[in-house]
Amino acid sequence: MKKISLTGIKPTGLLHIGNYFGAIKPALELARDYDARYFIADYHALNIIKDPRELAANIRQVAAGWLAAGLDPDKVIFYRQSSIPEIFELTTQLMAFTAKGLMNRAHAYKSAVQENIKNNADLDAGINMGLFTYPVLMAADIILFDADVVPVGKDQVQHIEMAQDIVQAVNFNYKSEVLKVPQALVQENVGVVPGLDGRKMSKSYGNAIPLFCDEKTLRKLIMRIVTNSQAVEEPKDPATSQIYLLYQLFADEEEERSLANRYREGGMGWGEAKEELFRAANRELGPLRTRFNEIMANPAELDAILRRGAEKARPIATATVRRFRKAAGIE
Ligand code: TRP
Repeated sequence: MKKISLTGIKPTGLLHIGNYFGAIKPALELARDYDARYFIADYHALNIIKDPRELAANIRQVAAGWLAAGLDPDKVIFYRQSSIPEIFELTTQLMAFTAKGLMNRAHAYKSAVQENIKNNADLDAGINMGLFTYPVLMAADIILFDADVVPVGKDQVQHIEMAQDIVQAVNFNYKSEVLKVPQALVQENVGVVPGLDGRKMSKSYGNAIPLFCDEKTLRKLIMRIVTNSQAVEEPKDPATSQIYLLYQLFADEEEERSLANRYREGGMGWGEAKEELFRAANRELGPLRTRFNEIMANPAELDAILRRGAEKARPIATATVRRFRKAAGIE
């Protein structure tokens, strides 16, 4: 039997090329060898987004994004978290086995508290219980579908370790393997995707290139990449140039080598390097953008795909929750 891979994306904003290379593309590659279960983590986004129209648009856009990037809904179980009520039952079941102290140590919560300390605000300011208990909901997302591996970025590893702790507490208490212990799968070969300012590309830094922006915007954003003041004739170092680092994501090996040589020889200005990047990026993203727009233009079809995914997911979910109920004496 194939091992199970599971991951989710929180629909909190426009997908950007960091999400694509860091999460979506590697997850779709895994889907070739694993039994894949990928979902839209819409209740996670609710902790942050309270505007209903914005949330609805984000959910749609992330769902269409996965499909445009090549997710095959006949091969991958693809669903919205909110369509699987068992996730919320399992969350309650897991709550009883989750130490409050464990939640106190979660990075996202700790940094929110840190921010409050810095601003001289009340320690709890702006922190809802959804944020505080986020790792339990995420553990339920994972455990419910018997995931063996969870492809995630380094920032999520702590959450997977918490899920392991919680599973172990359950299994230890009932002296049986009620739930499966998941493993994080951090793709080491996926480096950090740099943003326009050279820091890690992230929605919260405002330095992202949206994955499905139109050609003109793509070009404009690439032209806005921050560079140093080296003159055209000076030789340049590809390894420290975010234009080059981004180019590597889109180019084949020969193209990479050729641009690296032009960097080292000198005589190429930043404007020209950006043109090369734009050409390579648009070559890959153009067809993706077309598919994305087609999917977005047919919301009924998109809903049907997600509904079918939820139908496939529900029986798996029900089985896990039942296993827990039985072990716990709640039948
Ligand atoms: N917390 C993840 C993030 O912010 C999203 C997520 C929610 C997730 N549930 C998950 C990822 C389950 C993997 C598995 O990126």
